[in-house]
Amino acid sequence: MKKILIIGSTGQIGSELSARLRSIYGVENVVCGYYAPPFPDGFFEAGPTVEIDALRIEQIADAVRKFQIDTIYNLAAILSATAEKKPQLGWDVGVGSLLNCLDVARDLKCALFTPSSIGAFGPNTPKDNTPQDTIQRPNTVYGITKVIGELVSDYYYDHWKVDTRSVRFPGIISSMTLPGGGTTDYAVEIFYKAVKGEIFECPIKAGTFMDMMYMPDALNAAIQLMEADPAKLIHRNSFNITAMSFDPEMLYHAIKQHYPDFQMVYKIDPLKQHIADSWPNKLDDSCAREEWGWKPNYDLERMTEDMVRKLKMKNKK
Ligand code: SER
Repeated sequence: MKKILIIGSTGQIGSELSARLRSIYGVENVVCGYYAPPFPDGFFEAGPTVEIDALRIEQIADAVRKFQIDTIYNLAAILSATAEKKPQLGWDVGVGSLLNCLDVARDLKCALFTPSSIGAFGPNTPKDNTPQDTIQRPNTVYGITKVIGELVSDYYYDHWKVDTRSVRFPGIISSMTLPGGGTTDYAVEIFYKAVKGEIFECPIKAGTFMDMMYMPDALNAAIQLMEADPAKLIHRNSFNITAMSFDPEMLYHAIKQHYPDFQMVYKIDPLKQHIADSWPNKLDDSCAREEWGWKPNYDLERMTEDMVRKLKMKNKK
């Protein structure tokens, strides 16, 4: 039976991954590492927790020893737009916390999952059907830390057989915890405005396509990859995955099917637009499909329907 530590368990992915992992492996076998508020409702009552600053290696090692952890999900992150504004923090969290996790994983014999991102690609990467193995010359702090993360994770596998695995997440759309400081955040924020009957000011230009994914698929990807037969993995760090690719207009029209009076205007954020312009339009995720059976369940219409339903319920509370 796995004993899992989630670092960054109160964030957008962690807050949902923790519940899913606990439903699979048992509440007591999933320890939620937390750093700073806000904490999700019922966080401390739901199962074991531990305070962890991912920049302090001894805190990670102590938690691994105390709870006899064998698998770490390292979700501590500073997203793309914030990392451009606070580069030192971007380097520290993007690279520093990963190196700490890798050293602990090597010394205390844990498997390690770390998210990479569509941000690991840059302006001279092929934009359409972006291959698994291609040019990676990102021009953002976030993207550079992701490329370093991919390379150093493969290095720890090659040299010390640390079981490192990773996916390049696209923008993740979810209803429980808001992302913050990401370029793809608009695709979450738009739903909150639609459900409240407010006008949405879109920071990204019409015609800017990016890969996206609904949270249930993102959770499946992380868990399925960590459960995959290692003999079948040709790649490790990191797999292209995607579920849909759209621009703001396509998302707006999908939401209008549910809220015909919903209005969107454009108020372009130059930093986010610059970042989005450097990222692919759509990834080719065939290696993930072949090597560990990746297959998403939600397309734009299904995701939109479910987001609207969940946020309506949340609004009523
Ligand atoms: N969602 C992230 C961001 O926009 C990309 O992985 O920064």
